Amino acid sequence: MNTLLLRADNLSKLSVKKHNVAFAHFDWPDSIPHDTWWQSPDLLTPALTDKLQNYNQQELMELSRWECINSFSLNYTGELELIQEVSRILDKVKLDEAREYLFHLIDEENQHMWYFRKFCLDYAGKVYPNKKFQLEKASLTPAQDHFLVFARILIFEEVGHYFNVQNARDDRVHPFIREINQEHYRDESRHIAYGRQVLEHLAADALAEEGSDRLLAAQLDKSIAINIGALYNPAAYRDAGLQKGMQIRDALLSDPARIDFHETKLLGNFKRLMERIGIPLS
Ligand SMILES: [Fe+2]
Ligand SMILES: [Fe+2]
Repeated sequence: MNTLLLRADNLSKLSVKKHNVAFAHFDWPDSIPHDTWWQSPDLLTPALTDKLQNYNQQELMELSRWECINSFSLNYTGELELIQEVSRILDKVKLDEAREYLFHLIDEENQHMWYFRKFCLDYAGKVYPNKKFQLEKASLTPAQDHFLVFARILIFEEVGHYFNVQNARDDRVHPFIREINQEHYRDESRHIAYGRQVLEHLAADALAEEGSDRLLAAQLDKSIAINIGALYNPAAYRDAGLQKGMQIRDALLSDPARIDFHETKLLGNFKRLMERIGIPLS
């Protein structure tokens, strides 16, 4: 049995063993107080910058509420897209028996979508829409297309994973929100392990054509910019009562401390993997 197949087989067994049904798993509180941390204060978008001191604790707690809703909305809309994309290539991608795990992936993401959407609607009355602009259709070989599907999923999952780990760990965060982060973290650890193996497996075919490395790198650089940009939502700043959301977004996105945070904490693992595979990201 090759490594990918062995790994996928083990992950499938874990999914079956752990099969909790999220629909019945959580004990949903009636409400979550506003004057508490909905995300770790270390994860707020002004964290690590001198702009943090512009706000008092009450304003930061309110921001944590809307940035939590933003990140749960991104999980929901991203997982919806993930299920659509994995379903589109499910029968075509060259994974042999390791394809089996994709059924667990879709099953688990469907449950995550359900609880993230429910959380946003029950406690904030809204889900932020997905602002991802449609990427222009580059002409791709099937192998490049399939590689990009899994690479984009991995970018999305690595970013979300960092948030889950930090929130689950931070005892300042409301216990129910910590529990959701913890639960999502457990499933996502398996998805990320699988995704990394799949990319190594699909890389040779995806890179077979001359110039593929630069083509894939350009596509992935755009996906990274979209995933990072989505964390800085002007609508969330507005809902948190902060003025000039677009200006806040622009200032934070170009802050050197934030850029360093994106590169090391959020994207470090993904970028190292692409480097090893031979895709020159910027
Ligand atoms: Fe998920
Ligand atoms: Fe996932």
